[in-house]
Amino acid sequence: MLVTSEALPLAKTGGLGDAVSGLARALRDAHVDATVFMPAYESAMDAACDLEEVAELPGLAGGDATVWAGWVADTEIPVLLLRNDRLYVRPGNPYLDANGKEFPDNGIRFAALAQAAKRISVGETPIRVPHVVHAHDWHAGLTPLYLHAAGVKRPKTVLTIHNLAFQGNFPLHLADELGIPPAYRGSEGAEFWGHLNFMKAGLRYADRLTTVSATYAREILTPEFGHGLDGVLRERAHELHAIPNGIDTEVWDPSTDPFLPEHFSALDMRGKVRNKLEMQQAFGLPTDPEAPLLAMGSRLTSQKMADLAVEVFPRLLAAHPRLQIAVLGCGERAIEEALRAVAERYPRNLGVHIGYDERRGHLLHAGADMLLHGSRFEPFGLTPLYSMLYGTVPIASRVGGLADSIVGLSPEPGAEVGSATGILFDGDTPDDMQKAVERALDVFAQPQKWSALQKNGMTTHFGWEASAAQYVELYRMLAPVAPVGAPMVARRPETASIPAATAVRKRA
Ligand code: ADP
Ligand code: GLC
Repeated sequence: MLVTSEALPLAKTGGLGDAVSGLARALRDAHVDATVFMPAYESAMDAACDLEEVAELPGLAGGDATVWAGWVADTEIPVLLLRNDRLYVRPGNPYLDANGKEFPDNGIRFAALAQAAKRISVGETPIRVPHVVHAHDWHAGLTPLYLHAAGVKRPKTVLTIHNLAFQGNFPLHLADELGIPPAYRGSEGAEFWGHLNFMKAGLRYADRLTTVSATYAREILTPEFGHGLDGVLRERAHELHAIPNGIDTEVWDPSTDPFLPEHFSALDMRGKVRNKLEMQQAFGLPTDPEAPLLAMGSRLTSQKMADLAVEVFPRLLAAHPRLQIAVLGCGERAIEEALRAVAERYPRNLGVHIGYDERRGHLLHAGADMLLHGSRFEPFGLTPLYSMLYGTVPIASRVGGLADSIVGLSPEPGAEVGSATGILFDGDTPDDMQKAVERALDVFAQPQKWSALQKNGMTTHFGWEASAAQYVELYRMLAPVAPVGAPMVARRPETASIPAATAVRKRA
């Protein structure tokens, strides 16, 4: 059972939603009955089908709830949704209200998810118990604690860290209301600087920990990247596994992507230019197939160096009058405002779209020449890989998953492209970022080299199979007895044979 707050297309605010659904699909392809368990947000109820109530859970944090079983529409991915409309049906996204403010009761909302996961997992409902409970990020972080505290025969737990910067800190006095036993409230438990820390609860009590790239797995053991939890992680370093994410190539493939005006592939790039022209229009830029077009598409936060980009864009545009930049994102209000202000100064060169827009996201990766993805830290970093598959060369920081998945072009002047797939840079000063973009512009002016970089990226294999196999091995180690009994959500005979590829196209 995958316990999560996000899974595409039920709910997504970032890479977590992509990663969990990609994993669920890959596990299914590997004949593992992985069931996604998450809150019944309105979007989740809409995107699931054949829903039926399968359990009542009275007395959870935040009130009585029910569990609904169904399927991600047109796929074979089974879901269990935790329904308490008072907690989960609200305007905004899974964490923030319509004004971008955190819901004040997020501690209760996600404790309820973990309590429900625990009750299902110890057989307190009619739902078949899972063999392994796999919690994702802080939202599910209390799950291992509750199961550890249950003191009964229980399934083993895994916690995957998708982003250690988000930890879910809540007032310690909530511990009573959330049913956290006194023995679990101290600094040896879930306490962190006078708060209850849901991520720390998961790090302490999960049977195994994983994170989403090898470099990030090493980085988070250091104070620089540990966000205060590196000490806790060092104690468990021998139980921390690095399993990189894959890419859901059913969703991200330029030769089939239903969001694109024209398809293309590494063998036939002719369609890419039409995407570029459409993207220029969509971002209010003059249509020009030759102008270098740089994209930035991400959360506009300091993790993603969006603050630095605000400083660097005017410098770049002053020095390179033909350069065009398109930005898609949302995040910190001050950064959004600052980007809009730069766009007012350079209306013909900088197009900014503030908001979250899946279709535009796909067009951005397809239409641009290069993607700027600076990161102060990056657990995995799906976005630059999407861009690579779409022939858009990433310019990215040499940290975390980016250092593992992008082969950086040698900085030596005149260096051969070889196996390079992008430009990697170190540091986080405006100069570091500016020089990296200028290196890319230099190669862009050499069409043969540029097309070699594009081809290398487009032909790299980032599928989920190998990573899913590593998770399966971990699950086997934790639950060595072969699975028996019915799946958690009863199989629907009439859809059981729909291949995933057909399913995704149907959805589109
Ligand atoms: P993170 O999870 O840290 O935000 P990733 O690069 O791993 O970073 O994943 C981000 C995901 O969210 C990608 O699928 C990306 O396309 C998507 N995304 C981010 N911001 C937006 C946006 N404003 N509109 C559409 N998609 C977005
Ligand atoms: C997080 C990370 C990102 C990663 C994603 C999926 O949001 O910031 O680097 O790709 O989770 O694991």
